[in-house]
Amino acid sequence: MLRVYRTDPINPDPEVIRIASDQIKRGGLVAFPTETVYGLGADTFNADACLKVFRAKGRPPDNPLIIHIASINELGRVAVDVPDIVWRVIDKAWPGPLTLILPKAPDVPKEVTGGRNTVAVRSPAHPVALALIKYSGTPIAAPSANKSGRPSPTLAEHVIEDYRDDDVDIVILDAGPTFFGVESTIIDVTRKPPVLLRPGPFTLEELRSLLGTDIVVPEFARGLGEADVALAPGMKYRHYAPRTRLLVVECGDYNGLLKLLRDVTVDYMARSMKVALLITKETAESLFTMYPEISGVSVILMGYRRDPYTIAANLFDSLRNLDKINVDIGIAEGIEERGIGLAIMNRLRKASGLSIIKC
Ligand code: TXA
Ligand code: MG
Repeated sequence: MLRVYRTDPINPDPEVIRIASDQIKRGGLVAFPTETVYGLGADTFNADACLKVFRAKGRPPDNPLIIHIASINELGRVAVDVPDIVWRVIDKAWPGPLTLILPKAPDVPKEVTGGRNTVAVRSPAHPVALALIKYSGTPIAAPSANKSGRPSPTLAEHVIEDYRDDDVDIVILDAGPTFFGVESTIIDVTRKPPVLLRPGPFTLEELRSLLGTDIVVPEFARGLGEADVALAPGMKYRHYAPRTRLLVVECGDYNGLLKLLRDVTVDYMARSMKVALLITKETAESLFTMYPEISGVSVILMGYRRDPYTIAANLFDSLRNLDKINVDIGIAEGIEERGIGLAIMNRLRKASGLSIIKC
């Protein structure tokens, strides 16, 4: 059964937090908002509870969970041997959308880490998440609350959508939209130099300047190519995928991008396929003025090109909406891989199953 409780995101309702923390203490599941996406959480030190997370999501057991802590003081319960340079990053980044891979503390169940000797840990910058962890009295292990393979949930409605037909007991804390809309940045600081496993709202540029070292950015962190499973267990699985076919159109030159979006759209229209464009406001305006012949296609607005944070916030909802409007194919606009743009392009490319068209 899904039990949904609404709460204010900034001032969490104490009664709602009590109900949810009781559920965690009893070994149950709670879907809760973070600043990135909704998580599906359980008591980190209760292996049976954590197994319920894998079962509910349909998540392969070798794809470990992220442990969420309320304060830096709890880090010692889940991780050991934190390198000196990492403390500087932690001081600056937490609470916030940065997950660190660190050597695992012995008490963390192997189920949480998929049998690895490292853990993923972060402190989320969301009052509801922090209150839940605090009142549960335990770090909370939580992947994104979507069913495995689906776009991550940025609204409580997305969580309900994914589990409403299942026989599963989840307390859902509905605090409205999450703040960033894409999952946390993951960096493996057990490697020298550190390796970016997943780009997110905490940007590579910020990380480089904080760490003062080089950071390796593998191709898979850009959403391209196969992941090295030894490094990034979760990245081998298909992610974020809408059911509708998706293409990503990329071009460094903006006029070239508009022309390519037009050409690809015309091409599919000529094959009697129903097309939806996932594009920014600026692009919608230019595209239909320059190329009125495609003005009949469906449009899902993803935000503003001049403010990529708005694109991040709408991204997963846009991918879910693509499945609701009954088209044959979605064509998404690529943006620059800078700042949060790297995270957006990683998600879009993966969502498309690497169906990328370049100019
Ligand atoms: O923003 C977020 O990170 C959200 C919210 C809920 O915190 N969580 C999230 O979790 O997106 P998710 O579904 O991406 O799962 C955790 C990711 C997986 O890609 C997993 O492979 C990786 O973290 N991970 C966990 N432990 C790891 C480890 N020891 N080594 C390498 N990667 C690890
Ligand atoms: Mg996920």
